[in-house]
Amino acid sequence: KKIALITGGYSGESVISYKSAATIQQNIDTNKWDCYLIDIHPSGWFHMTNNGEKILVDKNDFSLTINGSKITFDAVLVGLHGTPGEDGKLQGYFDCLKIPYTSCDAATSALTFNKRYTVAVAAFAGVHVAKSVHLFKNDGMDAAAILQQLQLPVFVKPNNGGSSIGMSKVNHADDLAPALAKAFNEDEQVLVEEFIAGREFTIGVYQTKGTIVTLPMTEIISKNDFFDFEAKYEGASEEVTPAQASDKIVAQIQAAAQKIYKVFHCKGIVRIDFIYNEALQEPYMLEINTVPGQSAASIVPQQVAAMGSTLKEFYSALLEECFM
Ligand code: DAL
Ligand code: MG
Repeated sequence: KKIALITGGYSGESVISYKSAATIQQNIDTNKWDCYLIDIHPSGWFHMTNNGEKILVDKNDFSLTINGSKITFDAVLVGLHGTPGEDGKLQGYFDCLKIPYTSCDAATSALTFNKRYTVAVAAFAGVHVAKSVHLFKNDGMDAAAILQQLQLPVFVKPNNGGSSIGMSKVNHADDLAPALAKAFNEDEQVLVEEFIAGREFTIGVYQTKGTIVTLPMTEIISKNDFFDFEAKYEGASEEVTPAQASDKIVAQIQAAAQKIYKVFHCKGIVRIDFIYNEALQEPYMLEINTVPGQSAASIVPQQVAAMGSTLKEFYSALLEECFM
């Protein structure tokens, strides 16, 4: 079957997308899949590079014409973080064209890309989440008003985004206003969340042959104040896979992850981040990443290896599932 691996994108996460797509492309079972790498570029072009030549995608049917022959795709493998590959926009486009894809559908992608809606739906389903305040730009709420509702320390996050871009941890009241300005630089909406003390875990979840499977989970031990962009991508964190945690903690996080995957009607591989609060003995969900990082050093490839599977088997399973 012919598959298009999409990468690039319009956000600051495009650099990560190229790394993820490189790992995915190297681990496609070429006996089963004929894979074409397609770059979704901020200029609006969708293109493939073939022997140094740029070939544009015909957006009417997401096809390519190479040496006079037209290529259409049986499925799309999503290797694009941020907009428009993780927030439902391209998923809606592929739905219109009836091309199956490996990620969550348009509605779930749009919902989970919005941090405010994600925590609201998770809380509604009985999943523990941090107390938070959501703000629009120019809605008049200032730092003092936020601190009447939330206790320091708090995290300030652009409401839509990934890879901790524009995010800050605020320990002192004076630092809240600049943190808000930084986050508003990235997005029209900001979410301020109370800090949850505890150990940080993250767990990959995917569906195969109709069964939801959790991967061995990872503990993140950040050398920075939190798991920020530098800690994520420049090695300033230690990641332990499988996490050295009690059976009880593992079982609680697996159960929460399974529940979240079901409630949000996820598809394909997602990675869910948690803080385990030891005093309350409960996992708190931070967020759902519907296109988790898949560079060679990323967490999902570590977890697939810890499960005893190869990435080749894993990507074949994801592709097979999208035809079900
Ligand atoms: N948003 C990044 C790529 C992640 O969640 O892994
Ligand atoms: Mg994220």
